[in-house]
Amino acid sequence: MAFESYHCSVCGRRVKIQSRADMPVLDPNTGFGICRNCIKSIFRFIEEEESGGGKIRAGRRTFANTLGELLAKNRPHVIKEYLDEFIIMQERAKKILSVAAYNHYKRMKYDLDNRGGDDEIDKSNVIILGPTGCGKTAMLSHLSKLLDIPFAVTDASSLTEAGFVGADVEVAVRNLYYAAGRNIEKTEHGIIYLDEFDKIARKSGANNSITADPGHEGVQQGLLKMLEGSVVEFTERGQRKHPEAPTIKVDTKNILFICGGAFVGIEKIIERRVRKGNVQMGFGSDIPSREDTDAKYNELIHQVRPEDLMKYGIIPEIIGRLPVICTLETLDEDALLKILTEPKNAPVKQYEKLLAMDNVKLEFEEAALRQVAKMAIERKTGARSLKGIIEDVMLDVMFEIPKSTEPRRVVITEACIKGDEQPKIFPLDDDKSAEAV
Ligand SMILES: Nc1ncnc2c1ncn2[C@@H]1O[C@H](COP(=O)(O)OP(=O)(O)O)[C@@H](O)[C@H]1O
Ligand SMILES: [Mg+2]
Repeated sequence: MAFESYHCSVCGRRVKIQSRADMPVLDPNTGFGICRNCIKSIFRFIEEEESGGGKIRAGRRTFANTLGELLAKNRPHVIKEYLDEFIIMQERAKKILSVAAYNHYKRMKYDLDNRGGDDEIDKSNVIILGPTGCGKTAMLSHLSKLLDIPFAVTDASSLTEAGFVGADVEVAVRNLYYAAGRNIEKTEHGIIYLDEFDKIARKSGANNSITADPGHEGVQQGLLKMLEGSVVEFTERGQRKHPEAPTIKVDTKNILFICGGAFVGIEKIIERRVRKGNVQMGFGSDIPSREDTDAKYNELIHQVRPEDLMKYGIIPEIIGRLPVICTLETLDEDALLKILTEPKNAPVKQYEKLLAMDNVKLEFEEAALRQVAKMAIERKTGARSLKGIIEDVMLDVMFEIPKSTEPRRVVITEACIKGDEQPKIFPLDDDKSAEAV
């Protein structure tokens, strides 16, 4: 082989020729070569250009043109109504989020309409607090679907301070870039959800030594610029980061950041502050029942203030960049019962549809659904375990049913959920000759 390495004639990077893949275009006479990365970029450019009908040059203006329409179509009450179709309770959170999203895109429009002006409207990034499985992720995912905007969840606890082993904060933007089908323009007005945000709190809280937890604080520091708006550079997935690797640049100015987590124990910080002001909460008994604990949590969590977050270990600069605080409640048994049946995509509705395709009518007894809710509450993971509990019971049904094409009826009782009896299959309109699954 004439060459062991060559310099890419486009990006200038030296490429070692280790296999055929390293030399897809290389003229052995002149040494003119284009590296694989550049070919990929060119290919992607052509693909995007062709599929987008030449929208690339119009760039930002294409989304700008639709912004007015997006705002007119998705005013806060409309967003809330849409969220209501999927999310039970959390009225306040749905309202706050609807307004925050609306304002975010309004701000973007203002900025575009007033190009050159320096009177920018502040970003409305959101911090969202609420127990596990109460609908944080679900709410955001539905919001992004309604607005038809790319959405990516990144686990904040997986991020590390720059220079340490692990994922840099840029990974959050890279995830959004992939969710946006690697379209930079779409990425630049998407929604990033930083989940498990409480896990990057300084472990020691505000009034302890600064050296206690440099790692987590470093991650928070790393996020600062990104939250406010800066150009973030990252490499394609699976590419090692080195100075010459081609990078993708994304401006985060118009990305809506939402930081969320359970913030376990924050209600105690809130309570201490509220108590100091001599406001006594009316939950008196010595050993509070679960209902009391939940009611107290719900009462307190909505009163959270920036200083409580600071005590929890979020640095003040971050809190300053998350001006909207959105709080969610613990879901009680009645709420879980509703989640099983009422949302557009409720688990019970989904199973009904699945079985209807096999000519089978599925019936859950009320007591059975209540039992599912009770078991979910015992597992302390909010609505998250509902589907799993039903799935366990439905497995045998879904295995047995397709053996015949006869129209039938299946009844799920409380005992079925408890595992004490098998669901029964009846011929349609006949409940005498039941056969067990
Ligand atoms: N308030 C709610 N209304 C309807 N479904 C909910 C609600 N809360 C949780 N769920 C359901 O429970 C599951 C877990 O919720 P998720 O949003 O992931 O919880 P988290 O608050 O931990 O992010 C999802 O499938 C979601 O559809
Ligand atoms: Mg979540």
